[in-house]
Amino acid sequence: MCGIVGYTGERQAAVILLEGLSKLEYRGYDSAGVAVRDNDGKIEVVKAKGRLSVLEEKTNGGQALSGTCGIGHTRWATHGEPSEGNAHPHHSDDLSVVAVHNGIIENYQELKDKLIRKGYQFYSETDTEIAVKLIDYYYKKYLGTPVDAINHAMVRIRGSYALAVMFEEYPGEIYAARKDSPMILGVGEGECYLASDVPAILKYTRNVYYIGNMEIGRLGKGQVTFYNLDGDQVEKEATEIQWDAEAAEKAGYEHFMMKEIHEQPKAVSDTLRSVLRDGRIDLSDVGLTEEDIKEISRIYIVACGSAYHVGVAAQYVIEDLAKIPVRVELASEFRYRRPLLDPSGLVIVISQSGETADSLAALREAKEKGIKTLGIVNVVGSSIAREADNVFYTLAGPEIAVATTKAYSTQLIACYALAIQFAKVRGEIDDEDYTGLITELETLPDKIGKIIEDKERIQWFASKQAAAKDIFFIGRGIDYAITLEGSLKMKEISYIHSEAYAAGELKHGTISLIEDGTLVIGVLTQQDLYEKTVSNMVECKSRGAYLMGLTTYGNYSIEDTADFVVYVPKTDVHFSVSLAVIPLQLMAYYVSLAKGLDVDKPRNLAKSVTVE
Ligand code: F6R
Repeated sequence: MCGIVGYTGERQAAVILLEGLSKLEYRGYDSAGVAVRDNDGKIEVVKAKGRLSVLEEKTNGGQALSGTCGIGHTRWATHGEPSEGNAHPHHSDDLSVVAVHNGIIENYQELKDKLIRKGYQFYSETDTEIAVKLIDYYYKKYLGTPVDAINHAMVRIRGSYALAVMFEEYPGEIYAARKDSPMILGVGEGECYLASDVPAILKYTRNVYYIGNMEIGRLGKGQVTFYNLDGDQVEKEATEIQWDAEAAEKAGYEHFMMKEIHEQPKAVSDTLRSVLRDGRIDLSDVGLTEEDIKEISRIYIVACGSAYHVGVAAQYVIEDLAKIPVRVELASEFRYRRPLLDPSGLVIVISQSGETADSLAALREAKEKGIKTLGIVNVVGSSIAREADNVFYTLAGPEIAVATTKAYSTQLIACYALAIQFAKVRGEIDDEDYTGLITELETLPDKIGKIIEDKERIQWFASKQAAAKDIFFIGRGIDYAITLEGSLKMKEISYIHSEAYAAGELKHGTISLIEDGTLVIGVLTQQDLYEKTVSNMVECKSRGAYLMGLTTYGNYSIEDTADFVVYVPKTDVHFSVSLAVIPLQLMAYYVSLAKGLDVDKPRNLAKSVTVE
């Protein structure tokens, strides 16, 4: 939510800032702005409401702003409506302190009242302006360094923030401060970068520092210095990012989402190979020993959105294979529910970004209770990856489209690998089943590729659904987990109301919503539940529904019931989500395309939800 960037070096800052913001637009896109220190040392601020392109036009792609040091922001509104006035950067009245911010300041009202008493006035409705003016207040009150002023403000501010601040009296320097919001600092030859996420700076450098919570970074030309809350210097090692720059480009695809759908075979295969050694699963990089695995009494999976849907699927798979009781929960509920956790339990937090505020808070809640934690995370060095006891990295590469596809698919793989290995170590499956499951896992990338190749048929069907008012997805067991994700994909990018229902539950109320022509998509990959779901589809048809069936090759009798059928290759029942979700991703994509919507940046959403 909100993307921030910063640059100081020898090049024209505004051009680099806009380029970086274009890679972060997925984090927020209701307004944007930059502040650049021109060659006379004056800080110039330019902002625009709307997409980044409006700001680009206003600044002639950054060319209109001279200067080699600056900060930028793309906004997802929290406090105050999207407007030019509320857009960042924000500044003190004399422009001596200018800042951009990602996060939420919870005690903003209390701080605002204090600053008003001290004679400050406010021009925007944002909490960020309060942070900037608080820093300005301490800077002028104690006449200390920028680090002192920021430290004083950090002690007073409650909430989350990634802040990038410029001080008029410190040319060529940017100060960064962080608490619970993502930010990385990059270093190149004679220059430094700052960004909410890696893709924004990947074109320029792969050497990054992860700034810790409650730390400050001072960026100069080619050098970053870190400080703790006492103002003491802290030593840090730079890390080299493995992602390549092309991974954050569209590579000829019309949308990132379509590119990322096509990247799934590779992402799945890379993730799988990361834990396969000589045909066996090896979790030593994840840090789980056989002893650890044997001791697990129960598993709690905690996540948000699509990652939660992975958890729902994983619950079926882990319980069925490893016979460990699993409870899957939304992180936003888990964190406030005061959960009773078994001390020998394992909490698994699934998150692409590794920064989702609720998932991070749930992780901390579990750690506070002394429960072992495991993060399944895509972004290296993200907060969840750093704070979890163990990490299983998914190798999806950068995911830019707001609607997740390839990260979701790799999270499933991580869960399957855990389930199979837990089952083997705990003696729930024999060697033959173990090898059989792994061999089947290895076929998934090719099978996913084949489904994607067949996308034109889905495009044809999807284009006819653009006018749909409601869509219902139904399924049982693991198929229910598939419907949850199919429905979310559809609603978030096509804006068509959709619901996922456990097929057996439909009759308990929801069936009254079925009208003539309502599209009902039945997912039927579980052979033992096939006939039951067909019956539920027939019940919908009798009430006027138009039926689509999504099943495996061989289940041709579905054609007697459904008006349109999509087949996916057969696989082990435990892995069917990995295949059946692909047509549903494609369908959501094509419906959105047919409606002329912004597929990659659906309204009101942001990729990384770093606020509650
Ligand atoms: C939907 C989607 C979201 C995320 C959710 C969690 O397409 O992408 O529902 O899955 O916001 O995000 P992460 O995985 O970053 O914690």
